[in-house]
Amino acid sequence: MADTNPFLPKSSSDGSHLTGSQATRRRPVKEQLTIFFGLLAVGLFAALLIGKNGSYNAHVHENKHGSLATSTTKKPETLRPVSRGPAAGVSEKSNRLSAKVDGNLLAYPWNNSMLSWQRTAFHFQPEKNWMNDPNGPLFYKGWYHFFYQYNPNAAVWGDIVWGHAVSKDMIHWLHLPLAMVADQWYDVNGVWTGSATILPDGKVVMLYTGSTVEAVQVQNLAYPADPNDPLLINWVKYPGNPVLVPPPGIDKMDFRDPTTAWLTSEGKWRITIGSKINKTGIALIYDTTDFINYERLDGALHAVPGTGMWECVDFFPVSKTEENGLETSVNGPGVKHVVKASLDDDRHDYYAIGTYHEKNGTWIPDQPEIDVGIGIRYDYGIFYAAKTFYDENKNRRVLWGWIGESDSEAADVQKGWASLQSIPRTILFDNKTGTHLLQWPVEEIESLRLKSNEFNQVTLQAGTVVPLDVGSATQLDIIAEFVIDKEALGKATGSNETFSCGSSGGATERGALGPFGLLVLADESLSEQTPVYFYIAKGYDGNLKTFFCNDESRSSAASDVNKQIYGSFVPVLEGENLSLRMLVDHSIIESFAQGGRTVITSRVYPTKAIYGAAKVFLFNNATEASVTASLKIWQMNSAFIRPYPNNEKF
Ligand SMILES: *[C@@H]1O[C@H](CO)[C@@H](O)[C@H](O)[C@H]1NC(C)=O
Ligand SMILES: *[C@@H]1O[C@H](CO)[C@@H](O)[C@H](O)[C@H]1NC(C)=O
Ligand SMILES: *[C@@H]1O[C@H](CO)[C@@H](O)[C@H](O)[C@H]1NC(C)=O
Ligand SMILES: *[C@@H]1O[C@H](CO)[C@@H](O)[C@H](O)[C@H]1NC(C)=O
Ligand SMILES: *[C@@H]1O[C@H](CO)[C@@H](O)[C@H](O)[C@H]1NC(C)=O
Ligand SMILES: *[C@@H]1O[C@H](CO)[C@@H](O)[C@H](O)[C@H]1NC(C)=O
Ligand SMILES: *[C@@H]1O[C@H](CO)[C@@H](O)[C@H](O)[C@H]1NC(C)=O
Repeated sequence: MADTNPFLPKSSSDGSHLTGSQATRRRPVKEQLTIFFGLLAVGLFAALLIGKNGSYNAHVHENKHGSLATSTTKKPETLRPVSRGPAAGVSEKSNRLSAKVDGNLLAYPWNNSMLSWQRTAFHFQPEKNWMNDPNGPLFYKGWYHFFYQYNPNAAVWGDIVWGHAVSKDMIHWLHLPLAMVADQWYDVNGVWTGSATILPDGKVVMLYTGSTVEAVQVQNLAYPADPNDPLLINWVKYPGNPVLVPPPGIDKMDFRDPTTAWLTSEGKWRITIGSKINKTGIALIYDTTDFINYERLDGALHAVPGTGMWECVDFFPVSKTEENGLETSVNGPGVKHVVKASLDDDRHDYYAIGTYHEKNGTWIPDQPEIDVGIGIRYDYGIFYAAKTFYDENKNRRVLWGWIGESDSEAADVQKGWASLQSIPRTILFDNKTGTHLLQWPVEEIESLRLKSNEFNQVTLQAGTVVPLDVGSATQLDIIAEFVIDKEALGKATGSNETFSCGSSGGATERGALGPFGLLVLADESLSEQTPVYFYIAKGYDGNLKTFFCNDESRSSAASDVNKQIYGSFVPVLEGENLSLRMLVDHSIIESFAQGGRTVITSRVYPTKAIYGAAKVFLFNNATEASVTASLKIWQMNSAFIRPYPNNEKF
């Protein structure tokens, strides 16, 4: 079906319009579905609690708020997470838990006060149920819009539609009705990830992946039903969808997540879509003038052998000389281009910086040895399916990322929600290293800062722990700087052993020059603690290499949560002190080293170090070096994240 101008719908009577009246009529059905899937979830949860001997030893009931609660018997439960995603054609969405006993997990007896503490105070999350990838972020007529992959029916992945919220500052959010639901043959198996493009005349184009009735991944076009509505409540799906189907040689389940479009010098729009050919991850590239008809360019924007399926590819320019973001179509001298892919195989987001060749639609990394998928990650903890957008309101590029849970699925079902979004991060090219991006929480987060405590020049002798009296320590913004004793740096003997956070013993592995840093979400006796720290390794050649790590191994007394040691190398340049920023918000810790060169996001689920019992400490577990620390710690207010006040009118 040909529509000459899909971005100016003439009337709202088209059958595919999500009009207000339809949205209202849908609501009772939605409620029925919620009850239905709620019951399904009860069944599922019950199934999860059947141990490997098949005995059913838990009582599950629905409490008066509709969320699930269990009353467990003395006998320890075992849990088996159900794999979700791959069979439907996307990446694994269930948690990979490591602390297994005979292939099963012993369930911890979580109670409601522990579980409700895990809900965050200033991170975006829906009121309930499952969320994953960020979709189509944009700024429109005074509002930031955020869409997200959402299961309206359960706290596990499935039945994916687009949730929608708006904000004036990307911190306080108002939930709006679902933007798009799975109501067409071309997206009935899921309204999957997509991106927004704002045309020069201000019109908004949304491209997204649909999973068809036959589970084929196709690209679809949608646009606002009423461009005059700043809230963009209603969306029209183009009647001629799909606009793109998998090309020859590409599997029907390996074609997803279209990017924001950018302009070529010929005035065409260009997009890229993730895929794979055998084990080679690839970013396919298309040109279009109308977002309906597309021409595939030969080859690919980029491809890296051995990296597997590329999901959620992102492509954007960064400035080499200016401290602001660039609109997606900007190109020319002083501009570098970033390619990011989310690797289905390991579920991490990798980026690389390089040069875009507009004429033939290719991109070449500056350093092939740190190419996309084999080099630098946005985040060394839990952070996936990230997407940037250009914020014309503040002339910056902003990154969103999906942060999953690392507790058990059963606990997610019990608490009634799963997943967060990262605090939006501004993205800049780090022209000091030339290899890294700098990620930093958007400045608006600072509006939540309440009272602060400062600690100046605290000397930490080797092997000490120093409490920091800041009161309750569950909602914090921390800025810290560390200076290590120069004499110890010189005296330390070099080693040929290569250090890595992940294969180390965490904060209990003592070296001459580290670890040192902070213990957060720690109880008074340190029976629970999450160390976030630097570790300096000295090579045989005398060269120093600094690592930034996060050790979850003692974060919780519970055995049914993932407890990993994360981290990576962080470049520290001549004349720089070691610096870190941390946002602690209940079950999430986002940590930024050296101005955001290396970032680690961690989910932790303490059982004792919660509410008023959560504390923060400085520590230095080096064997030789003393360290001087200076910090400022703010208590953080909670952000309002709630339904849009006049919900009735939808
Ligand atoms: C949950 O368990 C903790 C630790 O056993 C206990 O201190 C707390 O009072 C319990 N809360 C509820 C609501 O049962
Ligand atoms: C993919 O692998 C198959 C089997 O190994 C091989 O026959 C085919 O040529 C490969 N395709 C490409 C494009 O390399
Ligand atoms: C690096 O970027 C900063 C702004 O972030 C700018 O002031 C400086 O001139 C840049 N350096 C070079 C070598 O371009
Ligand atoms: C694309 O153009 C650039 C710059 O001319 C060149 O270096 C590169 O090899 C070309 N790539 C392909 C695949 O033709
Ligand atoms: C460390 O590596 C260097 C260079 O490869 C080598 O000369 C030296 O013998 C090694 N030392 C030890 C203790 O392995
Ligand atoms: C420091 O290392 C020792 C020895 O491994 C360990 O017992 C202790 O818990 C560590 N301290 C911290 C804060 O991790
Ligand atoms: C490093 O920290 C020391 C001590 O706090 C301070 O005097 C110095 O100015 C800092 N250096 C830089 C480059 O910020």
